[in-house]
Amino acid sequence: MTELKLAQRMGRIQPSATLALTARAKALRAEGKDVIALTAGEPDFSTPDAIRASAVSALQAGGVVDRYTPASGLPEVRKAVANKFKRDNGLDYAADQVMVNCGAKHSCFNLIAALVDEGDEVIIPAPYWVSYPQMVSFFGGKPVIVDTSATGFVLTSDALKAALTPKTRLVLVNSPGNPTGAVWSREAQQSIADVLKGTNVAVLSDEIYEKLVYDGEHVSFASLDDDAFNRTVTVNGVAKAYAMTGWRIGYAGGPKHVIAAMGALQSHSTSNPATVSQLAALKALAEDPAELPGWRESFVRRRDIIVGGLNDVEGISCARPGGAFYVFPDCRGLLGKRHNDVEISDDHVLCEKLLTEAHVAGVPGSEFGAPGFIRFSYAESDDNIRKAAERIQKFSSELK
Ligand SMILES: Cc1ncc(COP(=O)(O)O)c(C=O)c1O
Repeated sequence: MTELKLAQRMGRIQPSATLALTARAKALRAEGKDVIALTAGEPDFSTPDAIRASAVSALQAGGVVDRYTPASGLPEVRKAVANKFKRDNGLDYAADQVMVNCGAKHSCFNLIAALVDEGDEVIIPAPYWVSYPQMVSFFGGKPVIVDTSATGFVLTSDALKAALTPKTRLVLVNSPGNPTGAVWSREAQQSIADVLKGTNVAVLSDEIYEKLVYDGEHVSFASLDDDAFNRTVTVNGVAKAYAMTGWRIGYAGGPKHVIAAMGALQSHSTSNPATVSQLAALKALAEDPAELPGWRESFVRRRDIIVGGLNDVEGISCARPGGAFYVFPDCRGLLGKRHNDVEISDDHVLCEKLLTEAHVAGVPGSEFGAPGFIRFSYAESDDNIRKAAERIQKFSSELK
């Protein structure tokens, strides 16, 4: 039998490189290799007890938890999302301007599906989260990549102006950002909002790392002014804030007709996010769990260990990010050197060698649109981060 033919649109996407590398590091570990995996995009803490307990009670009570909910989420969860946006971000969304999705990734997917037509341009500041250009391409849009590495990983108004065309449909904003951890200031975001005034361009503000800001303040793009509010869909979720990556709950707030369109799509794809997960998210959103300050402190300490350790390596230069749990060092100074007669020609070879020789796993910057960089996650123990930095130092001292 001949091989079944896939839809043409499948030729436009590839599987997530981050997940593939995490799997590779795990496989090496299963072979008994002492690999330190700094690839994961999730906190290493457990979901707080109070959230877990509320899900257990819901399961034991039965009833609602056994059933479908409305496609856009339980009314009380939508209300909790609207309250959260008001309390933390100063955003006044009515209950029908918010919805619950199966993770923030799903919120982004629904939004891009709802807004982007064939040939529409979507401005994506690079380095970017791997899924943005893939989703845009999948729906027939054209990713317009704007490099921000020379401006502190922040999109400037000049760079935005240069990239805008009559075909621009959407601009992606992600602060704090993955993979850089960069936190965009109010002024930087306002200058972007000012450029967009008078256009019909939408903004997706992905604020999934909101609770993980260590320097500066978190600013929601939609809170800048009325014009920004009306053109923005704000995406967030419980995954990174409350160590709930496995629960798969994200949410979005924005113009009513856009949220309704995303809801219509969701009603024909996943139906509702799992009811038990919605109820757990309800608990998380009602108040911040007590564990959060301790987590933040740990992340700051770990960030400082890894930034210090990497900056001690000749050929690596690492900015100190203000948020999230990633560092994104510039490793271009190591390229072109040789390790045991193998030329380190690019960041893929460098990551491969770091994995197999130094037993440290990171994700090549090329995957995020920034060749020559590497993303390391510091959602790992202090000891392992210290050890990883020492291994990278030793590896680089062996380069010729
Ligand atoms: C920038 C960004 N947005 C969204 C997500 C997805 O979050 P969720 O687990 O809620 O789907 C991630 C996860 O890595 C991310 O880094």
